[in-house]
Amino acid sequence: MLTTTALALSTLALRVSAEVKMANHRRPGLADTPPLGWNSWNKFGCDISQDTILDAAKVIADSGLQAVGYEYVIIDDCWHADERDKNTSAPLAHPERFSKGIKYIADEVHKLGLKFGIYSSAGTHTCAGRFASLGYEEIDAKTYAEWDVDYLKYDNCYNEGQSGTPEASFKRYNKMSKALKKTGRPIVYALCNWGEDGPWNWAPTISETWRISGDVWDSFDTVDDYCPCETMIDCKMSGFHCSVSKIIEFSASLGQKAGPGHWNDMDMLEVGNGGQTYDEYATHFSMWALAKSPLILGHDLTAMTNETYEIVTNKAIIAVNQDKLGKPAQRRWKRKIEGGGTLQMWSGQLDNGDTVVALVNLSPRNLSVAVDIADMFDAPERDAKTKTYEFFDLWERADENDLQSWGRSVGVHQNSFSAPVQLRSHQTKVFRAHPINLSSNPDLVPQQVVFKTNSDN
Ligand code: GAL
Repeated sequence: MLTTTALALSTLALRVSAEVKMANHRRPGLADTPPLGWNSWNKFGCDISQDTILDAAKVIADSGLQAVGYEYVIIDDCWHADERDKNTSAPLAHPERFSKGIKYIADEVHKLGLKFGIYSSAGTHTCAGRFASLGYEEIDAKTYAEWDVDYLKYDNCYNEGQSGTPEASFKRYNKMSKALKKTGRPIVYALCNWGEDGPWNWAPTISETWRISGDVWDSFDTVDDYCPCETMIDCKMSGFHCSVSKIIEFSASLGQKAGPGHWNDMDMLEVGNGGQTYDEYATHFSMWALAKSPLILGHDLTAMTNETYEIVTNKAIIAVNQDKLGKPAQRRWKRKIEGGGTLQMWSGQLDNGDTVVALVNLSPRNLSVAVDIADMFDAPERDAKTKTYEFFDLWERADENDLQSWGRSVGVHQNSFSAPVQLRSHQTKVFRAHPINLSSNPDLVPQQVVFKTNSDN
C-alpha cells in the first residue's frame, strides 16, 4: 500500500515538474511588458508596399511615438510573392511591392532603432490566400531569422481542420514555436488563433502573446452576428467584426492568465481610423492598456490627427500598460444602466504600490458615479479602510500648457470620493491612486466621500 502511494506520489511529482518545465517558456527580455508598435492590416489590408512600411517606421521614429515606447513595425498579410522559391521552398517577398526584399526593410527599420515584425499563418494559406507555413515551419523560421525579424504574428486560416481541441491547436502552433527557438534569434511569437481552443491555457507555454478573440473592427458597440459569442470561454465561433465593447467584455475574465512574458492580445488598435469618437477611442486605448494587451497601432501614421496623437501618446496610460509588475487590471463590478449598456469599475495593482482605477461608461447615457475606494481592492478591509490616497486623473493634464503632462491631481481621498465622478456616454476615466501617509503629512485633510450611482439624463 505504502509502495503504491509512494509510486503515485513520485509519478505526480514527475508530472508536476514536467508541467513546471513546460510553463517555464518565458524568455527574459522578450515581451517582459506588452509589445508596443504598429501593424499594417487595420488600415491598409493587402494594399501595402515597402513604402507603406518604411513611411510608418519613419513617423514612429520622428514624431515622438518611439520616445513613448512604440517599437515594433509589423507587416501583416500580403507581403508575399505568388509562390515560394521553386528550388529551396524558402518564402519570397512580392517582387514589385517589396522589390528590395524583406531583409532590406528589416535593416532600414533597425537603423531607426526600431524592431521589425512579419506575418504568416499556421495553415496552408494566409487569410488573404497567400502561401503560409503549415509544413514549412523550419524553413520559414530560418528565413525570418536570416531576414533579422524580431516578431512573428502567426494566424489561423486554412489550418486543415487541425483545431477544435486545445491539443490539436497546441500541436500545430508548437511547431513554429520550436522552429523559432531553433534559429537562436529572439523572435517574439505572437499567436493569432482568435481565442479558439482557449489559447490562454496553453499558449503561455509556447508564445509571448495570443489573440483572445475574432478580429476587432472600428466600431464601439455595434452588435454583429459575425462576432456571435458573448464570452470567449468555450466560444465555438470566434468570427470577426468584434466591437471594442465586446472585446473589453471578452478580456474581463482572462486577466488572470497574463503576466510578464505572456499576454492576452485584444487585437490591434483602431484608434485613428475614423469610426469612433474621441471618448470611444480613449476608452479603447485605456482598456487595452489596463488589460495589458499589446498596444499595436493600426492607423495611417502619415495622416495622424492631433486628437489621435494625443490619445496614443498619453504617457500616463502607457505607463500603466508597461508597468513592470505586469498585472492586468480586474473588473470589480459591472452595473446595468437603464436604457442599455453598463457602467464598470476596473482596478489593478502597480509596481510602486499605486492602484490604477478605471470607471468605464459603456452606456448611451451621461452618468454621475460615486466611488467607493474599498471597491478597488481584493481585500478592502485590509487595503482600503486604513489608507488615504491621492488620485490623479490620467486623461487630464497637470499643466494645461504642457501637452505631455498627463495626470492631474484630483485630491486626497479616504474611503470614497468627495464628489461623484461625471462620465460622458462611452467615456472612461482612469485614475492612479497613490497611497498617502497621513502621519508624515499632518497638514493634509482628506475629503470624505459619498457612494451612489445615478444617471443624470
Ligand atoms: C486575420 C487576422 C487579422 C489579419 C488578417 C490578415 O485572421 O486576425 O488580424 O492578420 O487575418 O489576412
